[in-house]
Amino acid sequence: MKKIIAAVLCLVLVLACVGMTSCKSAAEKQSVDAIKKAGVLTMYTNAEFPPFEYMKGTEVKGVDVDIAQAIADKLGVELEIKNVKFDTIIGSIQSGKGSIGAAGITVTEERKESVDFSIEYTTSKQYIIVPTDSTVAKIEDLAGMKIGVQLGTTGDFIITDEINGYESDGEQQKGVLQDTGASVVTYNSAADAAIALNSGKIGAVVIDKLPAEIVAGNYDNLKAIELVYADGSNTEESYAICVAKGNESLLKVINEVIEELKASGKIDEFIITHTGAAS
Ligand code: ARG
Repeated sequence: MKKIIAAVLCLVLVLACVGMTSCKSAAEKQSVDAIKKAGVLTMYTNAEFPPFEYMKGTEVKGVDVDIAQAIADKLGVELEIKNVKFDTIIGSIQSGKGSIGAAGITVTEERKESVDFSIEYTTSKQYIIVPTDSTVAKIEDLAGMKIGVQLGTTGDFIITDEINGYESDGEQQKGVLQDTGASVVTYNSAADAAIALNSGKIGAVVIDKLPAEIVAGNYDNLKAIELVYADGSNTEESYAICVAKGNESLLKVINEVIEELKASGKIDEFIITHTGAAS
């Protein structure tokens, strides 16, 4: 009797696995073979980040879309785009829901624990958007201000760390905005943060360089300046495409495509074209 029960339980488990395909790892679900079989490469992005991704009518356009299209072409499959909240992208790639995360995503040590990254395709810096007549010149000048960021971005992490303090080399460090009364206000996009800034609800917005310039450019009375520290240092970030951990077959194709696009000057071209189109 016990054997029969065990056998039935086994069968149920196997059927459940087959039914849910949850026995497959995220990397297996999105392997090159699986993508070719499905005929679709699914890109997760957040179209609130021009020129990398933005809406043109009902379509998502941008540098990352052009790169993803080149990857889909190389694989001989269709490109499907999922426009989601930025802070959910890594999770959807980690779980194998999507094939790639392409959203001007900065490579960070923390994110590397959840997903694997391609080679970098471009670099960026953090910028500060302030009213044109503002005298803010360095991050320390944001003392006491309400600072708007896009939730889950590196701008969010930097400002949050500078306000709350952070750990570095196992030691607790004081942030340059700590105890100044500064606070972070999170938005779903830099554009939403700029609306709040324009209406005086917050004092500044921190976001990556090109989106900062484009968003500020939409307002006569806003400007974007580089985020520098009082000691003259600044931020430097690398953008890459992420895949599920261990998805080597897909990562190889992505790296080949990025290599080719960089060598032929296409990435620079995409950036210029989309900066023009999104401005
Ligand atoms: N580079 C920044 C980060 O990785 C911001 C990216 C925001 N991207 C977007 N599509 N909204 O955190």
